[in-house]
Amino acid sequence: MIRLPRTSRSIARRFAIATILVAGFASPAFADTIKVGIIGPFSGPFANQGKNFQAGVEAWLAVNGKTVGDDEIEIVYRDLPAADPARSRALAQELVVSESVQYLGGIYFTPDALAVAPLLEQANVPLVIFNAATSAITKQSPLIVRTSFTLWQTSGPMATVALERGIKKVITAVSDYGPGADAEAAFTKIFTDGGGEVVDSVRMPLATNDFSPIMQRVRSSGAEAVFAFLPSGPTTLGFARAYADNGLRAANVQFLAPGDLTQESDLPALGDTAEGLLTTFHYAISHDSPENKAFVEAAGKAIGDPALLSFPSVGAYDGMRVIAKMIEATGGEQDAAAAVEAVKGFTFESPRGPVTIDPETRSPTQTIYLREVAKDAAGKLFNKEIASYPNTPDLGFPR
Ligand code: PHB
Repeated sequence: MIRLPRTSRSIARRFAIATILVAGFASPAFADTIKVGIIGPFSGPFANQGKNFQAGVEAWLAVNGKTVGDDEIEIVYRDLPAADPARSRALAQELVVSESVQYLGGIYFTPDALAVAPLLEQANVPLVIFNAATSAITKQSPLIVRTSFTLWQTSGPMATVALERGIKKVITAVSDYGPGADAEAAFTKIFTDGGGEVVDSVRMPLATNDFSPIMQRVRSSGAEAVFAFLPSGPTTLGFARAYADNGLRAANVQFLAPGDLTQESDLPALGDTAEGLLTTFHYAISHDSPENKAFVEAAGKAIGDPALLSFPSVGAYDGMRVIAKMIEATGGEQDAAAAVEAVKGFTFESPRGPVTIDPETRSPTQTIYLREVAKDAAGKLFNKEIASYPNTPDLGFPR
């Protein structure tokens, strides 16, 4: 088949439809291909996060099929191993110009999402973010929708938990970029409004891999707890290990964090020292619902080893759900604004629980769960949901 650019294809398609209608046929007997370009870390230290994107996408297509109306979805993957805004922008441009993708999806790191935002309106392409979680991202373009979470949303409830548990003095330690700043701001605002005290705030460069000096600072701060955020991957594994190795767990300094720090795929490597860690998050692999059971089975099959599953898979699964809804609503035509309009207020039962795409923030309003790392009957560590905060919006969206 000869591939025409999308606009020409669209003209050709209209012409074909007109011909068929004139000829008296009831419906067009052909399918258009709609390309979806997905950018994620498929190699390098964060490769398991990218594999989870892919598992979520494949699980969605396996369960729901590739066809939406008259159109068939084709996925084009592009590898972005680390946060690299210039490369992210170049990949998005290449996908739009050379591959004629009609939708962009994926994006693990915030700076990579920010770099793509300015391209969308001219390209007439929506971006559905599967992970990047700084609140302000969706403000950068009306054509961005997010299916993951925001750090404001996941970190705020942890401040409530700390207050409820009678913790008075906390030190915060976050990666020094967008989502870290959001996590710090959300925790600090809700904790201090409730009468708590933040005794020190540490910002760690993204490339930090020696956390011993930070653990020393936590120890000497006199805080009863450390609230931490780092992007999930080797970074979080190193931080959670250092917390135990530097004797903070033994010294009863409580560990408080969003769930990025105890992703399921890292729990075997963390071992018994992870037991009892408290996190707040939108999704646990163990979530008990029929929707999640079906999802974990399909995504586990797609990734090969279910022990590798983690939260980016559910952002990707629901990301494909949102893209399919956009394709259905626009009848496959390339109209990015109409596609985004069609998913404002979209409510669905996700494997994580109920989700609504907030029409104003274009991020999910969803249940945030308090979880504790526990051992199941077989001795396997998992995130056990022990409380829930339903209908949590993104409170960090700049208004
Ligand atoms: C982000 O860069 O927005 C990001 C990356 C990894 C996370 C959370 C947020 O776990």
